[in-house]
This record gives sequence, C-alpha cells and structure tokens, in this order.
Amino acid sequence: MHTDPAPLIARRHGPLKGRVRVPGDKSISHRALILGALAVGETPISGLLEGEDVLNTARAVRALGASVERRGAGEWRIRGVGVGGFAEPAAALDFGNAGTGCRLMLGAVAGCPITATFDGDASLRRRPMQRVLDPLQRIGARTLAATDGRLPLTLAGARDPVPIVFEPPVPSAQVKSAVLLAGLSAPGETVVIEAEATRDHTEKMLVHFGADLRIGPQGAVGRRIALVGQPELMPRPVAVPADPSSAAFPLVAALITPGSEVILDGVMMNALRTGLIATLGEMGAAIERLATRNEGGEEVADLRVQAGQLRGVEVPGSRAPSMIDEYPVLAVAAAFAEGTTVMRGLRELRVKESDRLAGIAALLRANGVEVDVDGDDLIVRGRGRAAGGGLVATHMDHRIAMAALVTGLASDKPVRIDDSSFIATSFPGFVELMRGLGADLS
Ligand code: S3P
Repeated sequence: MHTDPAPLIARRHGPLKGRVRVPGDKSISHRALILGALAVGETPISGLLEGEDVLNTARAVRALGASVERRGAGEWRIRGVGVGGFAEPAAALDFGNAGTGCRLMLGAVAGCPITATFDGDASLRRRPMQRVLDPLQRIGARTLAATDGRLPLTLAGARDPVPIVFEPPVPSAQVKSAVLLAGLSAPGETVVIEAEATRDHTEKMLVHFGADLRIGPQGAVGRRIALVGQPELMPRPVAVPADPSSAAFPLVAALITPGSEVILDGVMMNALRTGLIATLGEMGAAIERLATRNEGGEEVADLRVQAGQLRGVEVPGSRAPSMIDEYPVLAVAAAFAEGTTVMRGLRELRVKESDRLAGIAALLRANGVEVDVDGDDLIVRGRGRAAGGGLVATHMDHRIAMAALVTGLASDKPVRIDDSSFIATSFPGFVELMRGLGADLS
C-alpha cells in the first residue's frame, strides 16, 4: 500500500488560526469494529476513524464472517456473529502498520476454534507479539508455524478456552484487551491485574455491549478487571469522539507558533488519555476546556489553545501510560520551551511503530536541538526555538512524521520528512487540516 514515499516540507509562516475537529479516536474505532463483530445483531458506528489502521481491522472482521458496511463518511454498520462465532478466514489477515488491530484481533481469534494467519508491514513484523501470545496460550490458543514472537504467525484458537488470572508484565492496553477479548469465550471469570492503569476503552465498551465486568483498584495506581465469560453481547450504537492523540499535533503546533489561537472540537478527555494536557499545563501552556460534556460514554471537550512561552518540566514515568503516544510531539514542545525537560520511563517507546526513543532524538538533533537519551529517559534542552533545516527519516512511523512537520512550522529553517504516506494510518486529512489553520506544508 505504501510503495511510493511522499516527501513533505514544513515551513514557518503566520500564526495558526481556526476551529477544527480531528478524526475519530483510533483506539475506540478498532474496538467498535471488533465488539460489533462479536455482538449478535447490528451495531451502528458514527465518527469511525477511516485511517488505514482501522480499515485493516474492518477488513479482518469481514474476513472472519462479520458483515461490514460503510454507509457514509464515518458511518458504518457491523452485523456481528456472536462471541466465539468467527469463521476461518480464506487468506492471511493483513494488519498493515497497526499493532492495536493485530494484537486485539489475536485475542478475539484466540477464543474461537479456528486457525488464522496474521501479518503486517515491515514495521509491524518487527514488533513484539509474544507479550500477547503468552497469555493467549494459557487460555488455550496455540501458535502453529514456528515464530520468534513476530509476524507472520498462525494462531489456532482454543477449542475449550479456559479463564485465566493474568498480570501483564508491561503496562499495555493492547495486551490487557487481547486477554479480555479471548476471555469472552471462556466459561467463568477472566481476570487482568494491571500494576498501572492503562486506557480503559475495552472495559467501557464491553460494559456498553452488556458484558458483566467488575473493575476495582489494585494498589495505588493499578486496577483489577474481572470479566464474566460467555456473555451474549448486544449491539449498541457507538459514537466515536475526536482522538486526543491526533489533536496533540495541531495543539502543540498552535502552542509553539507565535500569535496562534486554535479551537479543537470534541476531543476525548478520558482521564487515562490526558497526560499530555496535564504536562503542557505544567509547562505553562494556555489550554482551556470549553463545553465539557459526555458523548457516547466518554467525556469530551472543545479545547481552546493559545500560543505562549513554555518552560521545561520533569515528566514522571508513572504518567507514561496516559500519554504513551504523545511523547514525539511533547518532545517538540519541550524543544521550544525554555529550560530542560526530562521525560522518564520511556522503555515502551522502543517497540512502537518505530523505535521512537531513537527517532525523537534523531528528529530533534537533525534540527539543532540538544537532546540526550539516558537509559529509558529522554532529556530535551529547550532554547525557545529550533534551527530546523533537517531531513527527518520517519521509519514508517506516522507520529514521528507529524512531530517533525510540527517542528518545521515553528523552526528558523524548513524541516523536510522523507515520507508522509504513513500519516494516513491514523490521521487521514492531516495536511489539509493543518493547511486550513494556515500551516505551510508542501
Ligand atoms: C493502544 C495502546 C497503546 C498505544 C496504541 C493504542 C490501544 O499501545 O500506544 O497506539 O488502543 O490499546 P500499548 O498497549 O502497546 O501501550
């Protein structure tokens, strides 16, 4: 799909102004398709993110027997097959660039008595899958072809799934979700004990679809999630709010481009996703939450963002799960801040669409920003400006690509990226949306 690299250049121009809505949340979009496919009856979805990652999940659930229909922009209807009801797919399931789609679907397939092959692009083939395969094997699934815990791999789902109690060794919503989705097919109670709470969209949506799920605290910052297996999931409408991880890019662009004022409509404010907003607030950013309301079971707000001087801060590792996808663009904000920003505990960034710890450091260095990686910590020495002028290698990573372009919008010299095509995995229309605010991207 992404055969032709599409270079792009971002240049400093005037202030960014306007009111926009970024596309639907990627996490919720994947889950709406998957739970819709496991419900009995028709699930209407509005505001679905139509990025490549989510479209691959739509193709996968269709290949497994669900009926999937697009009725208009973001308007989809899924007719599900019921828990445990997936049919064996005729061909390998291709998840492209999407770790979330792949890992969640490994969980959903693990609870069905079918065999399926999972594959993805060169980036996804490098990412670790053993973290989900370990608990899925305990539930009763088997990997057939020899694998080193990477794609492509063939999974034989469990004929008689057993409920497990599982403590993920890494804070990962994808691993938690894979276990819960497999646990849907098991009799009795499947329990996930998280040492640190991660995004809870799977849990919320399972409850929305009628599953019996109990969530309690675990220690100071963890959670114990218990799911009663073999529910009949009832179709429910899903309205997907705007993705805070996508909103992060125009938001930081507005903060660092002098004179800017931007309103971002309907951004999801789930407390397990707002680490970036909290951190930017500590850095002195002017971000106002207007019209906070509840939409489709999630808190959303319109965010008014005004440019202003930021200052360096220390970001504790405990905050990482609530902003794990936002570090590339936070590092850009840190470069334009005055003073040093220390971001701790970023080990998981090494296994994202690319090694983001290395990618962020390379992005900033190429543009004259002083940065160090010390173990799992990232240290950015902000000077209130960046020289720019760099060529950034994006390594098939949408967020590195967008973070580099945001840098270029405020740097002294233009910033060029080698390939903008992967931006469409999570944020179709990014370039047009940014141009609509006044950004110079060509
Ligand atoms: C996601 C979880 C996170 C995040 C990803 C989306 C999800 O990954 O980086 O973009 O929807 O569950 P991990 O669970 O690997 O941290």
